[in-house]
Amino acid sequence: MHDATSARPSPTTTSPNDDIHALVERVLRTNWREGVHRDGTPYAYTCPATPRYRHQWHWDSCFHAIAWCRYDVARAREELRTVLRGGRSDGFIPHTVFWHNHPRWRRAPFYATQRVRGNRHTTTIGPPLLPFAWERVAAAGDDEPGFATEALHALEAHLDWLERERDVDGDGLITVLLPDESGIDDSPKYDPVYGPYAHYKPGYFRIVSRYGRLGWSAHEVAAAGHDMHVEDVWVNVAYALSLRAMARLADDEAYARRAARVESALLERSLDPATGLFFDLAGRDERPVRVSTWSALSPLMLSAIPEEVRRRLVEEHVLNPARYGAAFGIPSVAMDEPSFKPGFDVWRTWRGPSWMNVTWLLLGPLRELGYADAASRIAGGMVDAVRRGGLREYYHPGSGEGLAARGFAMSALVADMTD
Ligand code: GLC
Repeated sequence: MHDATSARPSPTTTSPNDDIHALVERVLRTNWREGVHRDGTPYAYTCPATPRYRHQWHWDSCFHAIAWCRYDVARAREELRTVLRGGRSDGFIPHTVFWHNHPRWRRAPFYATQRVRGNRHTTTIGPPLLPFAWERVAAAGDDEPGFATEALHALEAHLDWLERERDVDGDGLITVLLPDESGIDDSPKYDPVYGPYAHYKPGYFRIVSRYGRLGWSAHEVAAAGHDMHVEDVWVNVAYALSLRAMARLADDEAYARRAARVESALLERSLDPATGLFFDLAGRDERPVRVSTWSALSPLMLSAIPEEVRRRLVEEHVLNPARYGAAFGIPSVAMDEPSFKPGFDVWRTWRGPSWMNVTWLLLGPLRELGYADAASRIAGGMVDAVRRGGLREYYHPGSGEGLAARGFAMSALVADMTD
């Protein structure tokens, strides 16, 4: 059955994908929220999906803004400005901001706020995609040429905050304290690290309160001898992409050198020669976490990673029908992992289904490396899935069935798959 946001070709359709664009624009417009927070801060952003996800998420908003560029670039700019406004002047940008609705006390520990009530945002970070998205949005419209450089100070402060506060051992790679901070909260790659403290396990609340007592400081967490923290491959890929974008936006080579440090560290320390995958490094001993999830493929996005390493990721993993070569999208977990679970589970996410943002992120590098046919096939599969089921939170990689939240705004990225 179609949901309210499913695409139906209209009689005035002039191009084969007009139905998809109409659907995407409708969801973006329906989910748009603007107003003024009670502390006087104005906001304007796309909420991911109602009723479950009413707040502003850093990485969702970066993807929403990229999707908005086709329909209303002024809204794309406003959404990114709101991400910045949600942060602090020291450069901290939260994972989630509660602009117009507050998390109820029962949800508060999930959101990792400083107190149970009265917070405007979480004390956790999200994948740092803001400078990456800023550069794309700036390039999408020439009606506000000042946009590209209007926030350089704030974006620099953000990247400096990450280096100062999250690269605790100074090796170039930043650390996440909670799985939630990567955006892929319930991924099975965190199971061996967090065990009974993983997302949706009862211990999760204990780790939230323990790290809360340490002020959510990665330095304090390390000094206290805790082992539940990760140098996360995907988060560091996002960080490197943003450092590269910053080098161009600010015309400052220092950011390119910082990006190169992150990229070399990934190559030297996260790349597993046996499989060609990039694994997270967990705890004080930096133990590699050998679970194959899309995060292990994400260095494909970094053009500074040697071509043979990237080709190996594509040929042995992304396009391998036993691993990630599914009929619909690029699964969030390799199909040959014991933890792979492609269907819907009300409590669990990121354990197998294909997400639109992941597929979108990996399609660019596939094309760049010359796998154009495969990229078109994957893009076409996601367009079909949307035509059947609308914009959903994620899709079954085998059947293409749309699953979980409806009218899910990150899936608006499908618009880029129609070209
Ligand atoms: C879920 C997803 C996360 C997303 C959030 C808001 O928690 O796991 O990736 O950012 O919803 O859409």
